[in-house]
Formats: sequence, structure tokens, C-alpha cells
Amino acid sequence: MASSFFTIFSIFLLVLFSIDSHASSPSIPIQQSFLQCMSSLNNTLSIPTSLFYTPDNSSSFNSILQSSAQNLRYLVPSMPKPEFIFTPLTEPHAQVAVACSNRLGIHLRVRSGGHDYEGASYVSEIESPFIVIDMAQLRAVDVNTQESTAWVQAGATTGELYYWIAEKSSIHGFPAGVCSSLGIGGHITGGAYGSMMRKYGLAADNVLDARIVDAQGRTLDRTAMGEDLFWAIRGAGGGSFGVILAWKLKLVPVPEKVTVFTVTKTLEQGATRILYKWQQVVDKLDEDLFIRVIIKSASGDPKGKRTVTTSYNALFLGDVDRLIQVMGKSFPELGLTRNDCTQTSWIGAVLYIAGFPNGTSTPPEVLLQGKSLFKNYFKAKSDFVRAPIPEAALLGLWNRYLLDENPYMIWTPYGGMMSRVPESQTPFPHRSGTIFKIQYVASWQDGDKDPSKHMDWVRKLYNYMTPYVSKSPREAYVNYRDLDLGMNRRRNTTFAEASSWGSKYYKGNFYRLAKIKSRFDPDNFFWHEQSIPVIPGRKKNG
Ligand SMILES: Cc1cc2nc3c(=O)[nH]c(=O)nc-3n(C[C@H](O)[C@H](O)[C@H](O)COP(=O)(O)OP(=O)(O)OC[C@H]3O[C@@H](n4cnc5c(N)ncnc54)[C@H](O)[C@@H]3O)c2cc1C
Ligand SMILES: *[C@@H]1O[C@H](CO)[C@@H](O)[C@H](O)[C@H]1NC(C)=O
Ligand SMILES: *[C@@H]1O[C@H](CO)[C@@H](O)[C@H](O)[C@H]1NC(C)=O
Ligand SMILES: *[C@@H]1O[C@H](CO)[C@@H](O)[C@H](O)[C@H]1NC(C)=O
Ligand SMILES: *[C@@H]1O[C@H](CO)[C@@H](O)[C@H](O)[C@H]1NC(C)=O
Repeated sequence: MASSFFTIFSIFLLVLFSIDSHASSPSIPIQQSFLQCMSSLNNTLSIPTSLFYTPDNSSSFNSILQSSAQNLRYLVPSMPKPEFIFTPLTEPHAQVAVACSNRLGIHLRVRSGGHDYEGASYVSEIESPFIVIDMAQLRAVDVNTQESTAWVQAGATTGELYYWIAEKSSIHGFPAGVCSSLGIGGHITGGAYGSMMRKYGLAADNVLDARIVDAQGRTLDRTAMGEDLFWAIRGAGGGSFGVILAWKLKLVPVPEKVTVFTVTKTLEQGATRILYKWQQVVDKLDEDLFIRVIIKSASGDPKGKRTVTTSYNALFLGDVDRLIQVMGKSFPELGLTRNDCTQTSWIGAVLYIAGFPNGTSTPPEVLLQGKSLFKNYFKAKSDFVRAPIPEAALLGLWNRYLLDENPYMIWTPYGGMMSRVPESQTPFPHRSGTIFKIQYVASWQDGDKDPSKHMDWVRKLYNYMTPYVSKSPREAYVNYRDLDLGMNRRRNTTFAEASSWGSKYYKGNFYRLAKIKSRFDPDNFFWHEQSIPVIPGRKKNG
């Protein structure tokens, strides 16, 4: 009843305004009907029109669209643009915006930190028109050190969360992403790992409660949404079940002094052999120690011959003396010395691992800018490794690796807490038996000129790795969204079709996710290129 009334009402407004405005911009009438709908749902709510950004003012529209978009590949002129971007100032603003997008039948995308690898939070390649709700103004962080908890709104970045924890306490931390500009809203929906994952697991493993707006426009907390939906939102990726307004997180203890280091080895310095050894020990190391490997290229000798560089970038939750002992016992091949190490606070380590140029001596206030350190055009893919990759295969990898100008990989260690959490505890299934995860990145700065060259390179690298990584399914990390794995055709994509990527992201949890989706969003309102599909016939009772 209500929704058909609104549909008719919006068509009326569409007609009215397209006559009125000489059909110059379709955004205006959609925005008008939206405003009408929003105030009719909550007439005590004041909704300034300044919260709407439409393409008719291209300077303000482009600046808000670009503000947090991390992958420049999704900002080129040929990419579809939203009718408008709405930036809620309060949670009731966000709630009525979701409700009205559903009632008016206008496709919705929601953006928190804009770091989606395939632009899913602000580009709809299949369905148009669409609008964007940008959560960037909802970024309150409320830390309670007494309880060791924090409520964090979706638009806050990981860096802001870390800053406000450290500002209140030198012995609390939170185990989310390495990068400081990720949006808490999207990030935690996909699992969210960082440099404390071996000790404390994922961010999603440390969530206590959430506020979410569902497809009917209701705001629900954990009790109101129930344990099935609360399970689904902690690992299924964003944009399938509702709009997260805020997460309640469990803070974890950190020592007052931690230690960081980065040690780089080139091929000429024995990088291949050391990396082979790293694979054998890294998931079994002391859980206070996290050593990831960042793999790039550099010119190796004066004649400019290129080489592969492997940088061991580490956080140790303890002092340098104990670190030297642990390394001497478990991984002496790296040859770590005291001179390589810096003792610092947890927040100093956050800045260091995030890659701020001044490292541990960067003033933590830079985190309050909520800005990313760099932006580029990129295409990334991911793999999970369950048995060490033989040295001969690494040599073959280097040959292919150096074919791109700016090759980039990060190998992230598992083990510890990651292997103790059962696969079905959250939708994120990549747990016991995983030694490490690989991220492959092709990135470029020269605009849209020849993206296919770089995209082909990363796809070929991924093909080459097939024999050495997880199989049946070949697992992938949903927060590293990769549309090569498959895409929803329309809202009626079948479960079997969606399994091409669903089984890779969620393994045996995919069916449960589709059942929960069918129960809470049977009309598939929350939809995007890789959202969880509805199982027909399961609509009424899950
Ligand atoms: C430079 C860089 C570094 C990264 N480092 C890490 C890392 O260390 N660890 C890690 O685990 N991941 C990392 N990631 C991946 C990151 O976790 C994902 O890209 C994540 O989705 C980002 O969340 P966001 O809010 O910034 O993204 P957005 O682009 O805003 O959203 C991502 C997805 O979630 C949906 N979404 C956004 N907000 C909400 C909401 N409030 N409610 C429901 N759905 C929502 C969007 O519609 C979209 O589908 C990195 C990514 C980049 C680009
Ligand atoms: C309507 O908006 C007001 C003002 O923001 C808010 O306090 C109230 O909770 C909202 N009512 C409903 C039913 O959401
Ligand atoms: C467009 O937006 C900019 C920035 O918000 C503002 O200064 C300008 O007045 C706007 N122009 C028009 C024509 O509304
Ligand atoms: C790094 O430190 C130098 C020298 O102290 C300073 O000039 C520069 O602005 C700092 N850069 C950042 C990003 O903090
Ligand atoms: C999905 O819908 C399209 C039209 O929107 C139709 O052509 C197609 O057959 C449908 N597919 C399935 C599997 O129902």
C-alpha cells in the first residue's frame, strides 16, 4: 500500500519536474521526491538540501564523489555516476534515506571509506539510475576504557579509531586494518585483518554489537536483529544485508612498548631462500609476532638490471630483547639485529605499519585527517596458501613478476588465533590450515591510457600461481573484491551462478548467507555486482 502510493507519487513528481525544468537534469526530481518521502516518514527531522550533491553543480558533486574514492579506475568519465549523493548528518537521516530509496524504487549504494577495490560503493555498472548514501559525516568514536569497548560510527576511519583509543589509553588497541584510511563501515563487514590478527583474530571477531538499517528502514541492534543477521554482517562483505550505522567493538590489551622493523632482501641477497624459509615458520611463530612481506621491484645494480625486493615488515607486541630471542630461535635466516628495530607505543606502530613516511615519529594527529596516503589506478587479486611454495616456483614467479613496471604483492601471515577460530564462526572462512594470504596488485598513475596491459599482467600472474595456492575452491578475500571471479547478472542471479565467487569468498558459509539474505531481504533491495543472492522459494521462512 504505502510503497505503491510512494511510487505513484514519485512518478507524479518526475513528470511534474521534467516538464518544469525542460528535462535538463533528472537528478532534481528524484531528489525532490526523495526529500518529500524523507520528511513524510519523520516530520520532526530537518533535512537541509545542502546534504544533497547533484551533478548540476559539477564542482561540489565531483569533489564529494572523489573525496574517499580510492581506486581512480572507477572515477574515469566513462563510469556511471549517481543521480545524487546524500550525506546524512545523523543516524535518523541515514535511516529515512534507506527507507525512501526502497519505497521509491531507486537503486542504492552506500559508501563509508570508499576503499572498495571495484568501486561498488559509488559505481553501479549494471543498474541505473542509482544514488549514493555517503556515511562520511557519521564518524563519531566513543571509547570506554573502563569497559574496554568502543562504539564507532560507519564513516570513521580505522586511523581515527586507533587515534581515539590511544588518546585515552596506552594499553588498549584494536585489531583492524593496516591502512589508516579504511572506512569502519565497509571494512568490518568483510572480516578486516591487520597486524594483530595472529594474536586477536579479525576485527569481525571482536565485534560486540551493531546498529543497522534493514531493507524496511528499521534501525536494529544485535538483540533486535537476532543472531543470524548479526552473524552475517561480520564477514559477508558490505551492501547485502543493510546499512551499518555503527559497530560496538571489544578493545584488546597491548603492551606500552612494542617493537617494529623492516628488513629488505633483494634476489642477490638470497631473497628466494629466505622467503622459502619464511613460509615454513611464519604461521607457527610466537603469536606476538606478525611479519608480512611486501614484494616490489628495484634496479639491482649500476647497469640498471631490475631485481625483486622482499621487505619483511613486522610488529612485535613486546620489547626488543624478547624479539631478538624469538627471531634467533625461529627465523635466524633473516639476520635481524637490534639496529633494525624501533621500540615505540602501539599508536607509533600503527603509523609505522600504515606507511607514514616519518614512521613512528609521525604525530598521531595526522590520523584525524582521515585521508589516504596515496591514490592510484589499480586491479588486485587474492589467494590463500596452504603449503609452502617451492623455491623453483618462486624463481618462475620472479620472471613473470618483473614484466610489469610497478609490480606489488603483499604476503600476510596467518596462524595463531586465526587458526583457532572455526570456519563457520563468522562468514569469513579462511582459517585453520592457511599459512598466508597473497595480494597481487597492478597499479598505475598514467590515467586510463592502457589499463589492459596492467590488468593482463596481474591476471597472468594469478594463472601462473594456480598450482601453488588453495584449490576447490580457490579461496579469495571478499574485502579484496575481484569482479573477475564473477558478477550478479541481475537481481535474479541463481545461487548456483553466484557460487562461482561465493564459494571462494565464504566456502561452506555461502549457503547459510543466502538463506539469511532470503529471510531478511527477500526482494533483494540491497544489491550490487557481488551481493549475496536470494534463494527463490525461501522468501517467507528461512
Ligand atoms: C589501500 C587499501 C588498503 C587496505 N588495507 C586493508 C587491510 O589492511 N586489511 C583489510 O582487511 N582490508 C584492507 N583493505 C580492503 C578494505 O578492507 C575493503 O576495501 C573495505 O571494503 C573498505 O571499506 P570502506 O568502508 O573503506 O569501503 P567502501 O568502498 O565505502 O565500501 C565497501 C563495500 O561495503 C559497502 N558498505 C560501505 N559502507 C557500508 C555500511 N555502512 N553498511 C553496509 N555496507 C557498507 C559498500 O557498498 C561496498 O560494497 C584495503 C583497501 C585499500 C584500498
Ligand atoms: C525522527 O527524527 C528525530 C530527530 O532526529 C529523532 O529523534 C527520532 O528518533 C526520529 N523518529 C523515528 C521514528 O525514527
Ligand atoms: C556549487 O558548489 C560550490 C561548492 O559547494 C558552491 O560554492 C557554489 O556556490 C555552488 N554553485 C551553484 C551554482 O550552486
Ligand atoms: C616528516 O618530518 C620532516 C622533518 O621533521 C617534516 O618536514 C615533514 O613534514 C614530515 N612529514 C610528515 C608527512 O609528517
Ligand atoms: C532473469 O531476468 C531476466 C530479465 O530481467 C530474464 O531474461 C532471465 O531469464 C532471468 N533469469 C533467471 C535465471 O530467472
